Amino acid sequence: MTQADFGFVGLGVMGHALAQNMERHGYLTAGFDLDPAKVAAFQAHNAAKNAPAFTDPQKFVAALKRPRLVMLMVPAGRPVDAAIQTFRPLLETGDLIIDGGNSHFLDTERRQKELESGQILFIGVGVSGGEQGGLWGPSLMPGGKSEAWDLIASYYKAIAAHVDGQACVTHIGPGGSGHYVKMVHNGIEYAEMQLIAEAYDLLHRGLGLSNAQLHRIFSEWNKGELESFLIEIAADIFTRMDPETGKAIVDLILDEAQQKGTGKWTSQNALDVGASIPTINTAVDARLLSALKDQRVDASHLLKGPNPKIDLDPGQFTAWLEDALYVARICAYAQGFALMQMASAEYAYNLNLSEIARIWRGGCIIRANVLGAVQQVYALTPELKNLLLASNFAAEANKRQEALRQVIMAAVKAGIPVPAFSSALAYFDAFRTARLPANLTQAQRDYFGAHTYRRLDRDGIFHTDWTEGKPPTS
Ligand code: 6PG
Repeated sequence: MTQADFGFVGLGVMGHALAQNMERHGYLTAGFDLDPAKVAAFQAHNAAKNAPAFTDPQKFVAALKRPRLVMLMVPAGRPVDAAIQTFRPLLETGDLIIDGGNSHFLDTERRQKELESGQILFIGVGVSGGEQGGLWGPSLMPGGKSEAWDLIASYYKAIAAHVDGQACVTHIGPGGSGHYVKMVHNGIEYAEMQLIAEAYDLLHRGLGLSNAQLHRIFSEWNKGELESFLIEIAADIFTRMDPETGKAIVDLILDEAQQKGTGKWTSQNALDVGASIPTINTAVDARLLSALKDQRVDASHLLKGPNPKIDLDPGQFTAWLEDALYVARICAYAQGFALMQMASAEYAYNLNLSEIARIWRGGCIIRANVLGAVQQVYALTPELKNLLLASNFAAEANKRQEALRQVIMAAVKAGIPVPAFSSALAYFDAFRTARLPANLTQAQRDYFGAHTYRRLDRDGIFHTDWTEGKPPTS
């Protein structure tokens, strides 16, 4: 029997979709799953192409060409370690295990060390795009040794999404850099989704617009500078009706946002590397607060606020909102890219931010028109510390910051929460403020803890005896 080019472990939605994508590009795949039903489904689907699938790890490995390329598409965490345990003894020097799940980048680095000590290569690949992306062209973020990337480059270039004739895949860097970049992608994804949700709330509750009107507005936005996958699918969602009740499905969905953890990891890591990413943090937090449904319902009878109506011309407000979304999106990108810039130095990943923007232009969940401009900015100024310092993005933000203020003021007046918009504006305002009140924070730290401070007018470390020997007030 002809041996397969590529093996997939985990024949769930994503594993199956990626295998089909490879088959479509003329490669032969083999599949493995512990679940016989998934194996049967894979075989049935690929019967014409003779793609074998197994519940027996030995038979699966025997069906692969050497060096064997084994892509794990199993949930992050223990299942990845379990799969490695299963296949490691069956693989030989030079074979490659690829982890295509949303694994934590430090787990990826640990696994790389463990496997590479036994001459098995291991690469962590961020895969974005969901089922449709997997099937028709995802954005792929591989991180690990160059020799591992060389083994898979031609396959991944074939199956990835393409923009301007270029595949949305690049070798991100060493170690866990691929999963790191995917994690930040997801942090930005959280921020974008929260901003869109807030825009929806303002239009729906604030202006009282119907789902049909929301569909029209989001569709219009998607034709302009806001063009992106997430705006596009929001427009689509507003049109979908529930066949049983005849109501819009969006109105029937419980308002508790769940999360698998990559957004939280972005926030946790940003705290570790000392990066300021308030809009991403706020988006993670907004999901947590949304999950307190019972408490929110109780509080809605107890706590007071204004009537949630926005008393402004709907056309004017919608135009402001479009500008506000654009500038807030730039702030979220600025935070995510600044985080990657800092992490690149911290972990010696040597990230190419222009390439990262390029491979996010197609296939992935945050794909958006504006990423083309981000790609160009980082191609010209790879060391740029913040996107808001690029003259074109500064000009775009300056032009629209007033609209962002108008939106937030209207939201505050109506008592509609806009945490992501507010944090984007606060980030913008803090970032453009040459002198922040941190001088007083420093003085207080020095006052109660003798933590010292630096001065504007001379070099060195200083301490003041603030109480001059007086006893503390009780
Ligand atoms: C992607 C997505 C995907 C992620 C889901 C769910 O890029 O295709 O980021 O990897 O798992 O969006 O994420 P949450 O459950 O954390 O919302």
